Amino acid sequence: MVLSTPPENDPGDDQPKNGGPQEPFVRIRTLYGSAYWADSVNLMGERVVDESVDLIMTSPPFGLVRKKEYGNADADDYLAWFRPFASHFTRILKPQGSLVIDIGGAWKSGLPTKSLYQYELLITLCKEFDFHLAQEFFWWNPSRLPSPAEWVNIRRIRVKDAVNNIFWLSKTPWPKASNRRVLTPYSQSMRNLLETGYRSKKRPSGHDISENFSTDNGAAIPPNLLAAANTESNSQYLKYCEDNNLPIHPARFPSVIPEYFVRLLTDPDDMVVDPFAGSCTTGEVAERLGRRWICGEIEEKYVLGAQGRFQSNDVNKPKRPTQREPKAYNIHSPGLLWDDTIDVPLPEDGGRIRPSKSH
Ligand SMILES: C[S@@+](CC[C@H](N)C(=O)[O-])C[C@H]1O[C@@H](n2cnc3c(N)ncnc32)[C@H](O)[C@@H]1O
Repeated sequence: MVLSTPPENDPGDDQPKNGGPQEPFVRIRTLYGSAYWADSVNLMGERVVDESVDLIMTSPPFGLVRKKEYGNADADDYLAWFRPFASHFTRILKPQGSLVIDIGGAWKSGLPTKSLYQYELLITLCKEFDFHLAQEFFWWNPSRLPSPAEWVNIRRIRVKDAVNNIFWLSKTPWPKASNRRVLTPYSQSMRNLLETGYRSKKRPSGHDISENFSTDNGAAIPPNLLAAANTESNSQYLKYCEDNNLPIHPARFPSVIPEYFVRLLTDPDDMVVDPFAGSCTTGEVAERLGRRWICGEIEEKYVLGAQGRFQSNDVNKPKRPTQREPKAYNIHSPGLLWDDTIDVPLPEDGGRIRPSKSH
């Protein structure tokens, strides 16, 4: 539901197209929020007052890293670019607010080794900007294709990279949060245990698990591993982009990722900001859950496409998993295919010489 796109904010043709506009321009305005075509450093500086935000939920770009080859220059450049955002994050967050950053890893160009940039960012945010690491999450994308193909498929010297880091940071050690908001169904084995009862005994680890363990609380406390395929197709968004000849954002969140943290960390009417909004998935989730929101995106084409998320009242209808979607993802325990008769020799050179054909 686009409530208004104020004409006085129309940037006209003389605005820079590549570096973002000089001033933030509202492109979407709804009941609860606004999405701006803006460089979010400017947007936060001009439109977001001190200590007014409950949650910054975002996924910054990480393409910068791939351009560099050796040493830590990639990470250093990234940190230099990120610092102005970090200064605003500390300024705009309420004392009990949270900053949640989804960030993918990056491989060093031409090498089968990885950049440390996201860990350097984490350390910088904690050491220079006084954030606390409330918890780290791992987002496992079960549909991730094997990559980089050179190391994974051809030389067979690395395994598939299928998790992103999600850092949950806070200004104090006590950000507001409740895991009661993100409970998950009990596993079959836990349900069996609840039916047959559990006798208190020491585990092999030495932990003494009390009778309380067999109390049925209705649902389980989830781990910090989030399984979500990014094959989600928001047909309203996709159709709008297709109909209007706008590019579909290539790195969209599955909506369960921002929804998990919006539920865990905010109450209705709280303020959520996504400064690297892309297709505005965070804004859509916040709108549906009745949280106020501000999104900023530097590429105008993506904000224009994001309008497709707010075209109808459907945005207010909760999207729940349907029967056709898997209820749970399974991952095999390591070792199921281990067999002493198979003994593939390891390449002595660590895979430096490319095999003539993959095997
Ligand atoms: C990983 S994408 C975010 C995708 C988003 N989570 C979604 O669901 O569509 C990062 C976005 O940040 C945008 N961006 C990069 N620098 C920016 C800046 N200075 N201000 C605002 N947006 C920026 C990029 O154009 C890109 O669309």
